[in-house]
Amino acid sequence: MQESLYDWEWFVNNFETISQIDLSAYKRPQMERRINNFMRIAGCTDYRSFVSLLNADAEICHKFMEYITINVSEFFRNPDYWRILEQDIIPQLLQQRPLLKVWSAGCSTGEEAYSLAMLFQARFPGHVQSIKATDLDREVLKKAARALYPNKVVRTLPDPYLQRYMQPEGEYYKVIDEIKKMVEFERHDLLKDPYEQDYDLILCRNVFIYMTEASKQNLYRKFAAALRPGGILFIGSTEQIFQAVEVGFHARSTFFYQKN
Ligand SMILES: C[S@@+](CC[C@H](N)C(=O)[O-])C[C@H]1O[C@@H](n2cnc3c(N)ncnc32)[C@H](O)[C@@H]1O
Repeated sequence: MQESLYDWEWFVNNFETISQIDLSAYKRPQMERRINNFMRIAGCTDYRSFVSLLNADAEICHKFMEYITINVSEFFRNPDYWRILEQDIIPQLLQQRPLLKVWSAGCSTGEEAYSLAMLFQARFPGHVQSIKATDLDREVLKKAARALYPNKVVRTLPDPYLQRYMQPEGEYYKVIDEIKKMVEFERHDLLKDPYEQDYDLILCRNVFIYMTEASKQNLYRKFAAALRPGGILFIGSTEQIFQAVEVGFHARSTFFYQKN
């Protein structure tokens, strides 16, 4: 399926009208490949017929958004880094302030935000002021708020956490209310919406992967501005901030960046 530059730009503009998602901020080859794949499966051979389909069929449109935003998540994803968070980063942040303001940015279906809430409840009770969790995709936020996860999804939870903070419900586990009420979910587009300030800790993990270098730089600067001096940005295990100092950080350890 070969599309001209003009067609791609036409699609990006029209898709933004439908979804408010700005595809031009993401890496074009990866996006194009995924989109062309989806179009083929949906039986469309060009962007115009695909946009008509997205406008006409809400269910396909929803499936497509899910497909391109890539919502895979896990509880305590990369446990080694969560250990560093628990044993090194949070204790140090707590030496500076007794109550931490935390943000899970690009939280998908909520596993990351609930992992944070469980960690604070188990290891630092009473030391979290708020946990905000945001995503671009309204559908994942609905799932996050439901807090119901299939058995296979909870397998990465340490056993004591599973026992204490999840309730079995048939083939699912539900996050208990004590943990649920610690997290506030909200729709937020990292590329377009204003950022709150004065965070101690921000997790933005596995969100940058498909973004262009320019969008990433832009986001790093916004995260630096949203953190208080000394605050920490925790990123994904395949990500790295090159020239961190230029965007307002220094590397504290791999995947943890501290605001200067
Ligand atoms: C792979 S998931 C990562 C979930 C979680 N942070 C983790 O590491 O397990 C990426 C999430 O980023 C969200 N996302 C992508 N672009 C975004 C944007 N511009 N603003 C907010 N969220 C975005 C997607 O909707 C998706 O839910």
